[in-house]
Amino acid sequence: MSRIFSGIQPSGELHIGNYLGAVKNWAALQSQYESYFCVVDYHAIIAAYAPDDLRRRTREMATSLLAAGIDPGRCALFVQSRVPEHTELQWIFNTIAPLGELERQTQFKEKRERQEQVMAGLLNYPVLQAADILLYLADMVPVGEDQVQHLELSRVIARNWNARFAPEGAPYFPEPQPKLTKTRRIVGLDGNAKMSKSLNNTIGLLETPDEIWAKLRPAVTDPARVKKTDPGNPDNCRTIFELHKAFSPEATVTEVDKNCRSASWGCVDCKKALFEHMNAELTPIRTRAQAFAEQPRLVDDALDAGAEKARTVARQTMAHVKDRMGIA
Ligand code: TRP
Repeated sequence: MSRIFSGIQPSGELHIGNYLGAVKNWAALQSQYESYFCVVDYHAIIAAYAPDDLRRRTREMATSLLAAGIDPGRCALFVQSRVPEHTELQWIFNTIAPLGELERQTQFKEKRERQEQVMAGLLNYPVLQAADILLYLADMVPVGEDQVQHLELSRVIARNWNARFAPEGAPYFPEPQPKLTKTRRIVGLDGNAKMSKSLNNTIGLLETPDEIWAKLRPAVTDPARVKKTDPGNPDNCRTIFELHKAFSPEATVTEVDKNCRSASWGCVDCKKALFEHMNAELTPIRTRAQAFAEQPRLVDDALDAGAEKARTVARQTMAHVKDRMGIA
């Protein structure tokens, strides 16, 4: 059976962009594959942060994931720092990761531009990511487009380690492949290409219907539709139309397309239909989140069990790696 691993930064509550782009897919995959899902707090400390805030965000992310359908009975859901083998393997991988490949990473190049003093952790970020994945010998990684380059590097690291330390013809680490979601990247409510908390153009997964409508109602639509009687073009309304495709049944998507082009529906009609289907999907998630808020022990138990399961595999991998490398 294939093993899958994926990680998510502890940004606090999930928003519908993370949910549609990654987490919904994880929830579907967990029953088909042996799955490890990780809240990556060691990755998060590369950016400036407040310690208490990080602890809260880590916890909130875990709660959001459970509410969104990540089932601790079917997968291992855990916090990265609770399994110290991640950082242990990272050091080892630092000794075989080519510096040139690290310096070529787009995310590193973009982020270094925005910083006065660049820390080594920023450069080595994808080495920790390779350790995350390879520690579980995972061969599939459900992620978005933006992680494809990091996975290429994970494959280079796996290959380099195998070439030096695995017997010829019997590679130990698999070369992990990305498993991309069908959902296109969810556009921000303001029309910005990316839905992101820092751009304040998101809808939180756990927001109430009133909060959701307050954000949906003014969200950007096709700029050509000034009056309700102007015909529209759903291709020019990516924000709302993509959300329809993600939340509404196919018949509704067809209806939206038709009614927009013929101006039978105004943008508010279209948004009302979307709102209804969003509520249908998000209400049970919100209810589950409420239950976890009332019984925080359930979250602790899930994370304890996840870390325990992850540690069992992680220890085996490290024992093998150390053995092959002559490390006492
Ligand atoms: N870098 C990923 C992101 O920012 C998070 C991540 C860390 C990850 N380790 C991982 C994703 C391992 C997949 C596999 O989204």
